Amino acid sequence: MNAGLRRDGPKNRVADFFMEKKRIGVLTSGGDCPGLNAVLRGIVRAAATLNWEVVGFLDGFEGLLPPARYLILDRRNTAGIGHLGGTILGTTNKGHFTAKAGRGEVRKVRTEIIERARGVLKNLRVDALIAIGGDGSLTTAQQMHESGIPVIGVPKTIDNDIDATVLSFGFDSAVACVAESLDRLHTTATSHKRVMVVEVMGRHAGWIALHGGLAGGADIILIPEIPFDHEKVAAAVRRREREGCRSTLIVVAEGARALRSRATIHATGPGEFRLGGIGEIVAREVNRRTGKETRVCVLGHLQRGGAPTTVDRILGMRFGVHAVQLAQEQQFGRMVSLQNHQVTDVPIAAAVNRLRLVAPDSQMVQTARAVEISFGD
Ligand code: F6P
Repeated sequence: MNAGLRRDGPKNRVADFFMEKKRIGVLTSGGDCPGLNAVLRGIVRAAATLNWEVVGFLDGFEGLLPPARYLILDRRNTAGIGHLGGTILGTTNKGHFTAKAGRGEVRKVRTEIIERARGVLKNLRVDALIAIGGDGSLTTAQQMHESGIPVIGVPKTIDNDIDATVLSFGFDSAVACVAESLDRLHTTATSHKRVMVVEVMGRHAGWIALHGGLAGGADIILIPEIPFDHEKVAAAVRRREREGCRSTLIVVAEGARALRSRATIHATGPGEFRLGGIGEIVAREVNRRTGKETRVCVLGHLQRGGAPTTVDRILGMRFGVHAVQLAQEQQFGRMVSLQNHQVTDVPIAAAVNRLRLVAPDSQMVQTARAVEISFGD
């Protein structure tokens, strides 16, 4: 698929004058993520070049239910939003369109709900719907596509765990937040000769912990893909002390788990849970086994909020432009993806099948080990 948009010639512009303008619908769904507004701006600008209108549905797929809740997005109300965090459209990871729950079990969105959304799209004369979301939201998008609704997907996740794209916007911003936090924690930990445990996001994949830990100079990184041994973590702390290091920084992904244990979760509703708490457990065990003073810092939603990095602004804009190109070419059921530094597209179905996890024998993990980072294994 070639990059760049087809621009209408003068002949088409005359035709547009007599015809109704084409309309693209767009929504942001699931957890928010830095770079969403950059995607929206990219979509609106690219659509404007084609003389198309953009209808932005509010609060994820929920805005598609009657009475429809939407904004007409134009150059004016999307000007200057590319550097803003969050999403001007609002979002939710709950509601009538939830297609993945718990540990990723697929649910069928009720036919009645899909039909109501179809009716709204028809009434508003929406020719294509761009759904920007993570694994769960893209599963909803796929189900809508299978029911005949013209949908295009744009991947969004700070966890960077969507398999069909090598990078999602939001990840770089989250990593930058972790790295900056570690820079700050280094000085206080060293002053007090402490072990500092930093819990970061990453439900199934340890990308944020691995990249953030490497960038911020962590000494121990614990990720879901490599179950760790508390005794080996303690041994790494003792070794550093013997070597005269004044502090140790441990980065632990929220989904990490000790050998023969499960991830630390809290039930939040039927079939729903929230991760978190592994940082406290690691700190307690390190203190018990080494006698070292430990502190825990949970970065939580700081990693998702705030302005996107330049990488995420540009990637978001590129994804938005490519999504409009797919709409123009009527390539429905496709998801925008980054491969070999090029923005391209893949079937949404291929993207929601598998998560992209850190391979324990990957070059990145080996590099980390080469600079004496312990994975507690
Ligand atoms: O999937 C993205 C993510 O940021 C996870 O890393 C985290 O577990 C989850 O969202 C938090 O979701 P919520 O905002 O609902 O607490």
